[in-house]
Amino acid sequence: MYTNKLVTVFGGSGFLGRYVVRELAERGYRVRVACRRPDLAGHVQPSGDVGQIQFVQANLRYRWSIDRAVEGADIVVNTVGILAATGKQTFDSLQARGAGWVSEAAAAAGAKMVHVSAIGADEQSKADYARTKALGEDMVRKASPDAIIMRPSIIFGPEDDFFNRFAGMARIAPALPLIGGGKSRFQPVYVGDVAKAIANAADEKLEAGSTWELGGPEVLTFRECMERMLDVIDRKRALVSLPFPIASAMGSLLQFAPGAPITPGQVEMLKSDNVVSDDSITQNRTLEDAGVEPTALSAVLPTYLVRFRKHGQFEANRGL
Ligand SMILES: NC(=O)c1ccc[n+]([C@@H]2O[C@H](COP(=O)([O-])OP(=O)(O)OC[C@H]3O[C@@H](n4cnc5c(N)ncnc54)[C@H](OP(=O)(O)O)[C@@H]3O)[C@@H](O)[C@H]2O)c1
Repeated sequence: MYTNKLVTVFGGSGFLGRYVVRELAERGYRVRVACRRPDLAGHVQPSGDVGQIQFVQANLRYRWSIDRAVEGADIVVNTVGILAATGKQTFDSLQARGAGWVSEAAAAAGAKMVHVSAIGADEQSKADYARTKALGEDMVRKASPDAIIMRPSIIFGPEDDFFNRFAGMARIAPALPLIGGGKSRFQPVYVGDVAKAIANAADEKLEAGSTWELGGPEVLTFRECMERMLDVIDRKRALVSLPFPIASAMGSLLQFAPGAPITPGQVEMLKSDNVVSDDSITQNRTLEDAGVEPTALSAVLPTYLVRFRKHGQFEANRGL
């Protein structure tokens, strides 16, 4: 069953974005995927029926391209974000100014706005990621007071950049670093669950102007995340504590390496826990309150980390 509503999804080709597009398409929306390289976004096309998903070129650094992508939309979802700045792709230009522009364009077009921020958004943070997420939230609210803001904890799923990255390291390295001793706490949330919460917001099931913190069913330390991952990929690796000052110094150098394996900002973020706040729990602004049953890490992790096992999907001693 189709609704006549059109949703523009900025960043619809990214990790979270593609699940948002799929969820919206399943619910019968027409979806316009706004991304910088529509020619490279072919993987999103099968998420809907023929003609249900369209593509438009848009760059959050160019206001006119945002306005064009939003034209005629009933709902706008912004999933654009970066973990490391490169050239003109700065945190301020995308996560603050760009987020504000998307929200202004949505308001001008009379469209509802759903914005993806992150737990830990904080204007006072020394980490540009967290600081600009907070600035972005402010700009979004100023332009669209009715906007719904989603702040996920770390997101897991087949294309994630967290468990896949460390599992890839474990394949070749004898030891894995535990930045700050691995004590920072996370509440890993399944990508499909975040997409459902966003789609519930699009369906107008959530209160206008609300902010939600989305975490999974378990709170795990960084060390526990690494242990879970190693267990799934069936590899034994030393977990070596890396004090914050040393990790920061390494980040200062490695931030310029291809793919920026670690940045000083990411180290800074690890100094705080990344879990749903007590305020969100008491205000009933969690994933469950958004109508989504949280998926367990153990239900999904083995399905995509299997490729990092020594024998892939085959057990080691079966002689296959
Ligand atoms: N992954 C997590 O664990 C996590 C946790 C909390 C919050 N979040 C937030 O969730 C959102 C989605 O994250 P993700 O992990 O899905 O990231 P992602 O895979 O890197 O996707 C980000 C998207 O932003 C797009 N983008 C980057 N620069 C752009 C620009 N100048 N103009 C237009 N689009 C641009 C990218 O498309 P192209 O580069 O192809 O153009 C991509 O589609 C982000 O806001 C992130 O901060 C993520």
